[in-house]
Amino acid sequence: MNDAPIGIFDSGLGGLTVASEIARALPHESILYVGDTARCPYGPRPLEDVREFVLQIGSWLAERRVKMLVIACNTGTAAGLAAAQRTFDVPVIGVVEPGARAAVKATCNRKVGVIATTGTVESGAYSNAVRALDAGVTVFSVATPKFVDIVEQGLHMGPGTFEELIADSSEVFVRPTFFEIARDYLDPLKRVGVDTLVLGCTHFPLLAPAIGQVMGRKVRLISSAQETAREVSEVLGARRWLAPRDNVPRHRFLTTGDADEFARLGSVVLRHSIRSVEHLRVSEFETMTIPPMRAETVASGLEEEGMACS
Ligand code: DGL
Repeated sequence: MNDAPIGIFDSGLGGLTVASEIARALPHESILYVGDTARCPYGPRPLEDVREFVLQIGSWLAERRVKMLVIACNTGTAAGLAAAQRTFDVPVIGVVEPGARAAVKATCNRKVGVIATTGTVESGAYSNAVRALDAGVTVFSVATPKFVDIVEQGLHMGPGTFEELIADSSEVFVRPTFFEIARDYLDPLKRVGVDTLVLGCTHFPLLAPAIGQVMGRKVRLISSAQETAREVSEVLGARRWLAPRDNVPRHRFLTTGDADEFARLGSVVLRHSIRSVEHLRVSEFETMTIPPMRAETVASGLEEEGMACS
């Protein structure tokens, strides 16, 4: 048993989709969440820069004695997971491999689509992860950076759940723009006949109903958020590091951006009111001493059961 918090971080708000799933799957766990909003978006940045950010924030969280690190950002995972696993003493989980594994299990025709930021697509992280699991599955990746902008705009438009924001603004702004953009991005994936689509960016679960509408009901959407929560639970369970059932969880949220805005918009993403958010200066990360990297990578060694195709 271990009641230390789980450290979760992202370039901003999007990782709260992962935090939300983790809190749902593991209601006794405390969470220490960092959103690096001041340096968001990570997607268009060089991967070496993003890798450095991952090591900086990971070091900050490790100093606060988290029992596990979750890189709740696909771009951050693509750029920095391997380095983080060789740097920190606690288990480090990213969002790419859980999503890839779920996609391999879900596909029947062995054609998987991935939508993600430019950085994630160019890193080849999803193709590599899927190939490592099953070389017979073909991955078709499309960078969809405008989806990130749409989510950001949608969140800034007002109170209510994200689906309501899209629906409410349907005639004036988001909906026509969204569907035009979505068809441009997604039609090539429909033409090649993918039967499974990975939402390879932490912002995209918020667009899932609309993306599903464009792809059609036969295409399975994979949210790495849910799969990552499952993996967090399995890794902690295997180590007997789950918090005791009588633990009263304490969640703490920090951002390098505007704390009030993070609380307001974050409550929408988390679907839970965030009452207090602390501000952190980026310079706190930039001056972190990053522990030296070990030579070998730690593998999680998890096995998953197959899922029948219908
Ligand atoms: N969190 C990022 C990801 O999942 C999306 C936003 C960004 O570009 O920073 O890739």
